[in-house]
Amino acid sequence: MKIKLDYTNMVLDIKNIREKIESAKVSISEKKSKGLMDFMLLPHNQGNVVEEILDYKEKMKGKIENIVILGIGGSAFGTYVLHNALNHPYHNEFKTPKLYIADNIDPERLFHILERVDINKTLFNVITKSGETIETISQFMIIKNLLGGKAKELIVITTDEESGSLIKVAKNEGFKTFFVPKGVGGRFSVLTPVGLLPAAFLGLDIKEILRGASQACEDTAITFAAMQYMSLLDNKNIFVMMPYVDRLKLVPDWYSQLFSESLSKEIDNDGNIVNTGFNVAKALGATDQHSQLQLYIEGPKDKIIIFLDVDEYHEEMIIPKNYENIDSLKILGGVPHSKLIKLSKKATEASLTEVGQMNMTLTLPKITEFTIGQLLYMLEYSCAFLGELMNINAFNQPGVEHGKKLIYKYLSKI
Ligand code: PA5
Repeated sequence: MKIKLDYTNMVLDIKNIREKIESAKVSISEKKSKGLMDFMLLPHNQGNVVEEILDYKEKMKGKIENIVILGIGGSAFGTYVLHNALNHPYHNEFKTPKLYIADNIDPERLFHILERVDINKTLFNVITKSGETIETISQFMIIKNLLGGKAKELIVITTDEESGSLIKVAKNEGFKTFFVPKGVGGRFSVLTPVGLLPAAFLGLDIKEILRGASQACEDTAITFAAMQYMSLLDNKNIFVMMPYVDRLKLVPDWYSQLFSESLSKEIDNDGNIVNTGFNVAKALGATDQHSQLQLYIEGPKDKIIIFLDVDEYHEEMIIPKNYENIDSLKILGGVPHSKLIKLSKKATEASLTEVGQMNMTLTLPKITEFTIGQLLYMLEYSCAFLGELMNINAFNQPGVEHGKKLIYKYLSKI
């Protein structure tokens, strides 16, 4: 059950950066042993946390009909991806707990969620690694007020064990807490309670997610990083991620956050101003063959396309043979949709390759907890490796922090 990477259409020779790859491998393992790559420990060190999550879920059994995530960025994207990939596409229409994610402070978002749920039967999972993010803290304050005496029972907080305002509040007021390990940043935290707690409540097998992550192929991650690095050297600075699988539709959002926030930096590790980074564009096959594909085929040659694919879909639709007398429709008779979408991807791939637009494909055997765990960890490893190749710190986010500080400055002037 391994994810495959096909990079035959990349027309780049990995041998050209062999030395750089070897020195990045050394650097990664040195940093890992110094505790600077703690996300790499997660597939192996979350066993007790998993048990605690499952016990907590058991304790809440029968008490809740909804779970609302109050969190933003890395505190929310992982849940979007896991839920979209692994649960029924219309989950909220017939399954409980229903999931709502309030990862914005547009007042209408929370207003309408609260309009839909009975707050007395809702678990509010407040997720913020820093314990300071105003969007999340402000939502927590609203919900705590609304719940009154039930707040302690219906709010669960996922945050840093020591730092930030929220842990202080949680300790003073006795809220149930789960922790994001110290050395793991928001966008690398899907395999901590940040992603695992909501996933468990939504019925996913979180042990399998971690087992998949523990068996992710680092060589594939390195080759994937190397291809992206060589693309950047070749002045391709738009990376389009295009799944041909609805269940993977939100992976480009997660990849975009992980790679853009990690790899867009003003200075490199030697203090040089580099203003490096790339844009991630999100697309969906076959849908966007009828929109963005025109840009990819005839537009500027400043992109690479990263397809996501599966060998096997969960369901099938067979086109009936009901127009045998019309040649253009007869040809469709008996063809399964899984075949048709694969042919669509093949056509897109061929059209891109013909005009010299490089492309590669990551293929999952089938979408399961195991393979999704594998994919997410593989992309995290790849992101860290690409940071080494680019000689930048993939684990800070000064630009994002600056914005957060400005909001506090503006608030103090109200
Ligand atoms: O990856 C990151 O560091 C960010 O995207 C954070 O996840 C985001 O800013 C939210 O931060 P926090 O979890 O501290 O509320």
